Amino acid sequence: MTTTEKTSESYYRSLTRNIIFVIVGVSVVPLILITFTIRYFSQTSYQDKVIEHLQVLNKKHKQNIDSFLKERLADIAILKDSYSFDQLANDDFLKDKLRSLQMNSSDALVDLGVVDEHGKQIAYAGPYDLRGANYAEAPWFKAAIQKPYCISDVFPGLRGIPHFIVSVRSENGSTWLLRATVDFDKFNSLVENIRIGETGFAFILNRKGEFQTKPRTDVPPQKDPYLSFLTPGTKDLEQEGVVSNSKIEGRDIIHVMSRLKDGDWVLAFQQTESDAYKALYTVRTITVLIFFLGVIGIAVVAVLLSKRLVKRIRQADQEKEMMDEKVIEAGKLASVGELAAGIAHEINNPVAVMVEEAGWMQDLITDAGPGSIPMVDEFERSLTQIKAQGARCKQITHKLLSFARKTDPVPKRVNINDILSEAISLCEQRVHSGSVKIQGQFAEGLPPIRVSPSEAQQIFINLINNAIDAIEPKGGILKISTRKEGDFIVADVADNGPGIPSYVLPRVFDPFFTTKPVGKGTGLGLSICYGIMKKLGGDITVNTAEGLGTTFHVKFPASKLIDKKAS
Ligand SMILES: Nc1ncnc2c1ncn2[C@@H]1O[C@H](COP(=O)(O)OP(=O)(O)OP(=O)(O)O)[C@@H](O)[C@H]1O
Ligand SMILES: [Mg+2]
Repeated sequence: MTTTEKTSESYYRSLTRNIIFVIVGVSVVPLILITFTIRYFSQTSYQDKVIEHLQVLNKKHKQNIDSFLKERLADIAILKDSYSFDQLANDDFLKDKLRSLQMNSSDALVDLGVVDEHGKQIAYAGPYDLRGANYAEAPWFKAAIQKPYCISDVFPGLRGIPHFIVSVRSENGSTWLLRATVDFDKFNSLVENIRIGETGFAFILNRKGEFQTKPRTDVPPQKDPYLSFLTPGTKDLEQEGVVSNSKIEGRDIIHVMSRLKDGDWVLAFQQTESDAYKALYTVRTITVLIFFLGVIGIAVVAVLLSKRLVKRIRQADQEKEMMDEKVIEAGKLASVGELAAGIAHEINNPVAVMVEEAGWMQDLITDAGPGSIPMVDEFERSLTQIKAQGARCKQITHKLLSFARKTDPVPKRVNINDILSEAISLCEQRVHSGSVKIQGQFAEGLPPIRVSPSEAQQIFINLINNAIDAIEPKGGILKISTRKEGDFIVADVADNGPGIPSYVLPRVFDPFFTTKPVGKGTGLGLSICYGIMKKLGGDITVNTAEGLGTTFHVKFPASKLIDKKAS
């Protein structure tokens, strides 16, 4: 590989690389921008939507629980206000009221009791035997006696089952409490049934971090975010739907919380992010997949396209280089042709004078008569030689002039068979040994062709002479035939000579190309034939097989066609 080839190789390689970079850059950069912008906005808006949904759910359930508790308080507050202490202190009366409450209002109330200011239960209606029970030391009683109404935390109490108490205080005369136990299961089901996705659930915590409902056991609930939320005085008591995030055991968790019971309890929602944003993550995976497939697709197309493009560019460059070479070659030939034609023209006249003079000298010798001039035979031989070489010079200058188009032939309607017969008879004189046989096979009734007879003859003489040159050393047959082919009249000049070697074949129509020894051929014959045929609108082609022979096909347009074209 030469240095120029190497540099051009590296040039095309870097061109391919650059095209790949440009295509990939121009396509992938917008793809990245679009993908990540859409991804960012869809992600934030989807996350906002999910959080909003969780907040709405949380608030709705907070309201449900709040109203459940308020209804239970209202149930006993109405009893307290509607009846006197004496009436309520009667067990049967209380049982009656409990039954009607359970039937008409809510079956969530398990029992009813009247407790005096010292904590002693003086009347009781319910499934347990708690009449006379002393609540003086019970935390719920201590809190309840301080307030007009009270809801306790969940505790096992005397019965050993988790429950909580709602109570109202009466100040009418003496101080006493009307209390009711709320069925824990009923209350718990309000919260326990809240399920969001696969991992989302709800529970209630008090300030001490004790569960007020049964949390799910498969996903451990996290207490920290809720306890700090409940820390007294730090947050607004009515706050609801507050969101916070934390990481538990490597999982990102969303917490949504609302305060209940004047800030004593928190209604907590907890869900893993991967569950809450499941649809988003699926879309995200698909987007990433599409993105990478897109990038791979672009890269493949960029590589294929740039390779193809560079291949085309390389071909175009090569063609241009060849064209440039041909143009230079053609330019050179044109100037050589001009020069040769000029010289031929100048030489023509002196050569003609020399031949004339030689003829004149021969005439003088003849007139002087035999024996009058010594060595007359030698003179005659020299003069014949001068005339013969002069004629050869004339032939050569004539060929050079034809090549440079210095002659100006006049076209006529002629019969191709007539032209060929003349050309054959002229060339037959050349065939001295009987080794070359010329056969003519002319088709009858061919339409005339419109051509300068001298030019047409020149073509056939060139072809016949070439064929004779090719077959003469060994001997052979030269077949000349004519035929009609569409709108063309074709003459085939076929010999069974040695054929044209493949390395010679592409150059046979080039001017000055010859394989013959110096002084024998000029290499102009076929190039003149080619020029004439192209000028006529015809064509000349060659078929050859090494060792078998060569056929030249000369295609003339039928004269009808030319006349039509001319008109
Ligand atoms: N019939 C043929 N068989 C084999 N080779 C041929 C034949 N015709 C032409 N050639 C080859 O083509 C070359 C070019 O032919 P062209 O007629 O142009 O020039 P030339 O015959 O060498 O010279 P010039 O015609 O001026 O005497 C020849 O030198 C010869 O090698
Ligand atoms: Mg020739």
